[in-house]
Formats: sequence, structure tokens, C-alpha cells
Amino acid sequence: MGKFYDTVPVSAIVRIRDMMYTVKDPFRLDQGDVSFDAPDTFKQAVAKAMVDNRTHYLPTPGIPRLRELVAEKLRVKNRLPIDKDDEIVITNGGTHGIYAVLHALLEPGDEVIVPEPEWPPTMAIAQAAGGVPVQVRLHEHLGWRWDLDEVERAITPKTRVLYLNSPNNPSGGILTRPDLERLAAIARERDLWVLSDEAYEDIIFTGEHVSIASLPGMYERTIPVYTMSKSYALTGVRVGYFAIRDKALRDRATKIVLYTTSNVCSIAQYGAVGALEGPQDCIIDFRNELKDRRDFFYNGLAEAAPGVFSGDPPDGAFYAFVKINADWARDAGLSPVASAKGGDSLSWAMAEHLIKHARIGCVPGVDFGPNCEGYMRFCTGRGRPELAGALASMKETFARVASR
Ligand SMILES: Cc1ncc(COP(=O)(O)O)c(C=O)c1O
Repeated sequence: MGKFYDTVPVSAIVRIRDMMYTVKDPFRLDQGDVSFDAPDTFKQAVAKAMVDNRTHYLPTPGIPRLRELVAEKLRVKNRLPIDKDDEIVITNGGTHGIYAVLHALLEPGDEVIVPEPEWPPTMAIAQAAGGVPVQVRLHEHLGWRWDLDEVERAITPKTRVLYLNSPNNPSGGILTRPDLERLAAIARERDLWVLSDEAYEDIIFTGEHVSIASLPGMYERTIPVYTMSKSYALTGVRVGYFAIRDKALRDRATKIVLYTTSNVCSIAQYGAVGALEGPQDCIIDFRNELKDRRDFFYNGLAEAAPGVFSGDPPDGAFYAFVKINADWARDAGLSPVASAKGGDSLSWAMAEHLIKHARIGCVPGVDFGPNCEGYMRFCTGRGRPELAGALASMKETFARVASR
């Protein structure tokens, strides 16, 4: 098992994060981290937890008050039929939730349907759990949604889990209610578990967020996974959660949480209680500002990189997932380089070019799936000065390339 982990890939996001530490005055558009400060309700609760010496071991699934608040949030906001607080398990962020759930669900060789593009840790965790991620393309012309006939065709007798991620990282694509109704029917018919990763549930600019577990009879076969990282700007704090109705499966997933963390940091959990008990205005404020930043970045990109990238602003999440114009690359003499996954990659060439010459962190599309070679991801959730600085630096760099 130890050596097996050598075969589990490291996401380019991590590799690029390491590269960025060598860059002076970087523009960090590579990681999915918003620049907002955490809400005061969180900070005050953390400070109080310290004064109250909340520094001891806790029950593995989380402190009762946090589980109670989460259960209520899932009932009211996500419309899930949560029966008891016991169904909630607190995790060390969404990553840990996905890890525990996939390890609880998968047997060696089980297949997991995953969107393409998708946040790379999902595929890596599925592999780490002995599973086989099977990516099915989201189509740009469908607003980065699935053609559901293609999903049906990708299901085999080995498929065990349908992993949904709406809004999607990196494309921002959102599954509509009719999409989810059909996916629910497919899951029922083919007897699949659904892992619904709703990390970006609050970052939707157009349309609505629907939790598939709210559809009739779906909570029984769905494990919805959430994180406080994005909605409350708490990426480094590490609080997430999932809900499972089935007791045996929940016990197994909780055992995985036990042996990977014992309990999530006590101070972080008390802080999360403060964030959930207080007013929820920050969620709306962040969303409105993220929409403005999205527009600011796309408008700026048209000016800074004319003819270099194409793509429409997304309906959700906080990334620009744009296609590199192959003609521009050819004329500019930007040739593909060896990608970390093997094979030549224009998106890696672009990432290296932007990091080296413009100090801009960005992630090559190929890391989100082989068919996304030729795309780039930029995080638009950074502050205006950083976005403006990155755009100015990009403009200068591409102007230099054009005049060569
Ligand atoms: C789609 C998706 N799911 C889950 C996560 C996990 O977030 P975290 O572990 O920071 O809570 C992320 C983080 O970027 C994500 O993009």
C-alpha cells in the first residue's frame, strides 16, 4: 500500500503553488483561494474558544453544537431530509470529506464517474481509494454541462459512484434541476451512490443551486459533501462536513475520519459555530463581489490578451477557464512543452511562460482532464489590485511577444 501511493498523482495546482514560492511579487491566480477576510463572527468565536481553553480532544464526528447547526442548515437551505444531527460528520475541509467518503464507498477497481474538467484531487483521491475515475466531458457549448446520454453510456457494471460537482471547478458549469432529476433517475436505475460535492454552492451568479439529495428518495443514496472554505473565506482553517443516512456506511466513514484526524481542530470547530450562528451576510457580500471580480477580469483579459484566449464568463465558482488560441500560440512561437503527465502540452507552455515572464500563477487545463489540454485556469477570486496587477503584467508580456 505504501508504494502504491507513489502512483497517485500530485495535482498541478500543488506543483504550481510550489513553483510560485520562487517567484518574487507573484500574482496568485493559481490557487482557488479568495482574498476576503474571514467573518468577525468566526474570529470572535475562535478568540473565545481560546479563552475558554477549548483545546482538548473532541468526539470524532464533531462537537454537538456544530453538528446541530449544520443539520439545520442542510434542512433549511439545502432542503435535505436530515432526521438526526448524528447523520452529520465534521471533516478537515472538503478534501477530507471526499477522502473519507470515497474510501468508505469504494472497493478495488470500482469506477467513479467524474466530470471533465474536474478539480484534480477528486481523481487522485478516487485512485488512492483503489477506484478508477472515469471522466465524462462537460461541454463548453452546453454551458459546461454534461450530455447526459454520454454519462449513461459511460456507466458499466463496475460503476459504483456518480461524483457531481456543481458549480464545477474549474469551468463554473452548473447542473440544472432537470439535469439533476435525470441523474437521480440514472442513479436509481443503475443502483449507484452519488457523491455530491457542493463546495461552491454559494457562488452562483445565474441560475439556482439544487442539492440532488433534496430530490425525492435521493438522500438515501447521496452523500452530500460541503466545506466552509469558499463560502466563509476559511480555506486555511479546514472545516467541512458531510451527511450520511445509512448508519453502517456512516460508521465506516467516521472510522476513516477517526484514523486520519481523530477530531477536526477544536478551535476551528468552535469558530465554525460562530460563523454559522451569526448573520450570514458575508455569503451574499462575497458572491456579489466575486461576480464583479469575474467581470473585471474578463473585461481586462479582452484588453490584456487580445486574440490569446476565448471563453465566456462562468455562471458560478470563481475561475476563468479559457481556451488558448492555437493560431496565436503558433504565430507567437509558443511551443508545447512536456507536461507533468507526459506528452506535449501547450497549456503547460503557457503556464510556464506566464509564471516566468509575468509572475502570474495559473493552472494548465490538461491537469483537469486530458481533453482540457489547451485551456488555462485563472482564479478570479483575488483582490482587485492583484487582478489588475496580473492583467497589466499579462498585457506587457503579450505585447512583448507580439513585437518579437
Ligand atoms: C470542487 C472542490 N471540491 C472540494 C474542495 C475542497 O476544499 P477544501 O478542502 O479547501 O475545503 C475544493 C477546493 O478547491 C474544490 O474545488
